[in-house]
Amino acid sequence: MHTRAIDGLPRPVSRLGLGCWAIGGRGWGPDEGEAAAAAAIGAALDAGITLFDTAPIYGDGEADRRLRRALGPRIRDVTVATKVGPRGEPPVCDLTPQHLRRDVEASLRRLGVDRLDLVQAHWPCDLGTPLEATVEALTALRDEGKIAAFGLCNYGPVDLADACRRGPVATLQTPLSWIRREYEGELRRVVEAHRLGVLAYEPLARGLLTGKFDRLPRFDAGDVRRNDPRFWAARFARLAPRVERLRRAARALGVPPSALAIAWVASRPTVTTVLFGAKRAEQVQQNVRAFELLDDPRLGRL
Ligand SMILES: NC(=O)c1ccc[n+]([C@@H]2O[C@H](COP(=O)([O-])OP(=O)(O)OC[C@H]3O[C@@H](n4cnc5c(N)ncnc54)[C@H](OP(=O)(O)O)[C@@H]3O)[C@@H](O)[C@H]2O)c1
Repeated sequence: MHTRAIDGLPRPVSRLGLGCWAIGGRGWGPDEGEAAAAAAIGAALDAGITLFDTAPIYGDGEADRRLRRALGPRIRDVTVATKVGPRGEPPVCDLTPQHLRRDVEASLRRLGVDRLDLVQAHWPCDLGTPLEATVEALTALRDEGKIAAFGLCNYGPVDLADACRRGPVATLQTPLSWIRREYEGELRRVVEAHRLGVLAYEPLARGLLTGKFDRLPRFDAGDVRRNDPRFWAARFARLAPRVERLRRAARALGVPPSALAIAWVASRPTVTTVLFGAKRAEQVQQNVRAFELLDDPRLGRL
């Protein structure tokens, strides 16, 4: 089965989802432009992807606009997950009830829909708003029909459990990859206890697990990877043998390393959907080969 249900969401979601951060055209090297973004989204649809993850800060709304134009009327047949909270530059996460409402209204307008499928707090509030007030405000937006369901991103186990006791949290969005597994401890136990849907992000470690970086890459100013220690000499060298192991395993299975990295995350217990980023159709086409490996017992032995 290539889809899974999440309580509260209007329709099942595909087990691979397209993350639209890079599609917003900022933070990931040169903008590949709207045509490339549309081609990437089209390739995802062709492969059976029905979940698209976006956020107001991805290209300052540009990811939403490109997604809306590329999907056209199909936007009502797929699930668009978006986020709320960050504002300003550098962004602070504002989860006050007033700002949540403003963000939701703006996303409804940008995406051109009557109701948002899934709204996620982008990260814990930087302004000290009590979690209770945030959950209450999101529940009110749900009860008004402006959003179908809500979730949290980047929360730790204590706050996640607290939020789940206070209201109908549907999902957690959290990093998980072949080289980043902190999710698989207490956080996973909270997810299991509250039966949350899990959207696992950054499965390619921002491109590292595609195996394309034979030597230490240099990124332009403004590329998020410039400040990522995984792309600094010492950590990059330490990770190299694990990347090589993934590359060899992918060769043995006859798929690109990116597909294996994504399928491995999809195979982890409790993961509903794996969100991978891509800027071009060819990247999507390589990555969706992960569909071939879903539920393959060989993944468990890696
Ligand atoms: N909630 C949160 O706080 C949060 C945080 C991070 C991400 N996310 C979500 O998760 C999604 C995925 O995470 P991510 O985009 O950060 O990281 P990722 O999926 O680990 O890496 C995506 C990047 O890897 C490169 N890539 C992808 N496929 C490739 C291929 N087949 N061959 C070569 N390079 C390839 C592309 O960048 P280049 O071509 O530039 O190398 C692409 O932008 C995001 O788009 C976003 O929706 C959410």
